Amino acid sequence: MKEQLIQRYSAAERINHWIVAVCFILLAISGLAFFYPAFFWLTGVFGTPQLARIVHPFVGVVMFLAFLRQFFRYYHHNFITDDDIKWMKSVRTVMAGGEVGDTGRYNGGQKGMFWLMCVCMAGLLLSGVIAWRPYFAEFFPIPLIRLALLAHASCAVALIAGIIVHVYAALWVRGTIRAMVEGVVTHAWARKHHPRWYREMTGNSTPKH
Ligand code: HEM
Repeated sequence: MKEQLIQRYSAAERINHWIVAVCFILLAISGLAFFYPAFFWLTGVFGTPQLARIVHPFVGVVMFLAFLRQFFRYYHHNFITDDDIKWMKSVRTVMAGGEVGDTGRYNGGQKGMFWLMCVCMAGLLLSGVIAWRPYFAEFFPIPLIRLALLAHASCAVALIAGIIVHVYAALWVRGTIRAMVEGVVTHAWARKHHPRWYREMTGNSTPKH
């Protein structure tokens, strides 16, 4: 029997997502290289240490702008409801393979992750601009630049930890990567993980198991 599929992401959405993801990986690698001497060799990701220092902030701006586009695409799907709080409190059941509540397009975990990404992105941009030599840093006092660098590193650590969870969840829930690669999911995937979204998409009100 032919597999029944539902469109979850358009090509434009997927390109947008992978631009953010590629920028993120380059930034995380070069950022770790600046942060800790043992990782200095990772500056090679942009050719030389000097180039890495010059290019890192520009790639950061590209990531921020691409993420801003994602923000406007998804923020209205990510408002947290009572059901989502219930999901978050039952995360152990979810980890054991169960489903909690009548989940819509995104579950409580995905929504929490979305807002963590937003806070980190805003923090990284703001602190990054303050610390950006030779263009902007000269307009700010040195103690503020130091605080900005502390905030920059804190947001980066939080975002890297968050993205590790994001990627793990995407790989762990079978059929999810396909949503961001081919743009589609199976009916079974949608029915199991996002039953309310499944009904909205198909008009099918009799959930099958
Ligand atoms: C680096 C490897 C990454 C992989 C393998 C990955 C994978 C995925 C997958 C499979 C989805 C679809 C989930 C679903 O529809 O249920 C998704 C959604 C999403 N991803 Fe990623 N991702 C990665 C990196 C990132 C990064 C770095 C960001 C931004 C900081 C990001 C932001 C998002 C957003 C905003 C969504 C939309 C869903 C939502 O609002 O939660 N992703 N990702």
